[in-house]
Amino acid sequence: MTSLDAGIGRLRNAAGQLVAAANALASAGATVVRPIAGPWDRFGRWLKSVMPKGLYARSLLIIIVPMVVLQSVVALLFLERHWNLVTNYLSSAVTQEIATLIDVYKTFPQDADHAQIRRIAQDRLGLVVDFMPGGQLPAPGPKPFFNQLDEALSDDIRKQIGLPFWIDTVGRSSIVEIRILLPDANIMRVFAPRADVYDPNSWIFLVWMVATSLVVLAIAIAFLRNQIRPIVRLADAAEAFGKGREAQNFRPRGAREVRRAAAAFLEMKGRVERAIEQRTTMLAGVSHDLRTILTRFKLELALLGDGPEIEAIKKDIDEMAAMLEAYLAFARGDMGEQSAPTDIPVLLDELKLDTERHGHRASVSFYGEPEVTVRPAAFKRCLANLVTNASRFASTVAITGHRDHRWLTVTVDDDGPGIPVNLREDVFKPFLRLDDARNQDEGGTGLGLAIARDIARSHGGDIALGDSPLGGLRATVRVPV
Ligand SMILES: Nc1ncnc2c1ncn2[C@@H]1O[C@H](COP(=O)(O)OP(=O)(O)OP(=O)(O)O)[C@@H](O)[C@H]1O
Ligand SMILES: [Mg+2]
Repeated sequence: MTSLDAGIGRLRNAAGQLVAAANALASAGATVVRPIAGPWDRFGRWLKSVMPKGLYARSLLIIIVPMVVLQSVVALLFLERHWNLVTNYLSSAVTQEIATLIDVYKTFPQDADHAQIRRIAQDRLGLVVDFMPGGQLPAPGPKPFFNQLDEALSDDIRKQIGLPFWIDTVGRSSIVEIRILLPDANIMRVFAPRADVYDPNSWIFLVWMVATSLVVLAIAIAFLRNQIRPIVRLADAAEAFGKGREAQNFRPRGAREVRRAAAAFLEMKGRVERAIEQRTTMLAGVSHDLRTILTRFKLELALLGDGPEIEAIKKDIDEMAAMLEAYLAFARGDMGEQSAPTDIPVLLDELKLDTERHGHRASVSFYGEPEVTVRPAAFKRCLANLVTNASRFASTVAITGHRDHRWLTVTVDDDGPGIPVNLREDVFKPFLRLDDARNQDEGGTGLGLAIARDIARSHGGDIALGDSPLGGLRATVRVPV
């Protein structure tokens, strides 16, 4: 395995300890009486649950919400006031014109067929006027629910003219009709263009407002995309590093702070890799040198001849040489192996065949999507170590794989003697064997589980030991997909 993997393993260990400490703190806190959640807490939790989780969506929200609030306030306060004011002015002007016409009507009765007054109204004021003798005002029409024009016009007529009237602001859309019952029982009917009494152009302001907001939003989305991409790439690179994979073509990009974070990440990654590289090289060197000395020992012993003590020393030296061999293989590891999509059921089947070849009963089952990105040789070594252990201590081995959207879980069950609960962490220590005599006969070195855990952790996962339903040990490997 690479030095990088071992480094990640250590990092994960440290993170695991942190989580354990946090959990301990939390459970200590749990015994203290907690205050009952107030409405603010509940609101906060609700807000958290409905808020989008992604940075992109959140940033967009930060832009959109103030914009919408601002525009709504402006539209409500400014536009509404402006609209009312203009409508009031306009309707008051038209009412004044009608009042003037009524005055002219009263003052010049010689204009018998009202031709002059109609002409003046038409030419000078743009109002169409006619007179209906001795009529009655129609019943008031249905009032619209919210009509500023209707209210303003009625108010003005009441104040400035003070005669009974009837208005229709709803009917023909471009014209407003006003009827006034004159003191001589004639009805004066006025048609005024709606645009004269009412400000119809305010919606243009609204359209402009919404259109410019959309343009601003489009620009913001384009810029945001560019700003967020480097953060997403950094997150991907860090995640890949955690899973023991190499992030392709990653380099610092984007805003200064994001670049700084990316540069710091790369530096940290480099340091971890260098440190582990150095440690591995040194240990490999030491093992190698010791092996040379052991070989010399063996030669010297061969020269010393035979004897029971010499036999015992030879046996010890052989054992030590085997351990060093295993350690060298461990230190060299699967250095440089690249992650690749791997068909896990096929890999499990190979393990099963190996086990059966050695005369054990074995079964394999797999659930879920078969392809998972792992370092194939390393991952197979990890599982093979577990399966070899199972077949060394038991006669039946059951291998089960399960993949969901987050994890690939492989369990290796056996019907052997199992491992006592208090020793289940210890057996992961290198060179530790529970039953020395038996294992030595089998030629085990006690590195199998240490290597398997190291590989699992280098993939961002771990191994746990437990009780198997078959009666023996259950080893569970879990790696993120
Ligand atoms: N399936 C199992 N059932 C019972 N004991 C086990 C099982 N797997 C491991 N052990 C115990 O845990 C110890 C450590 O296992 P590990 O695989 O690390 O070393 P090993 O099998 O002795 O040697 P190596 O795997 O290097 O050949 C073993 O010596 C054994 O006592
Ligand atoms: Mg083993």
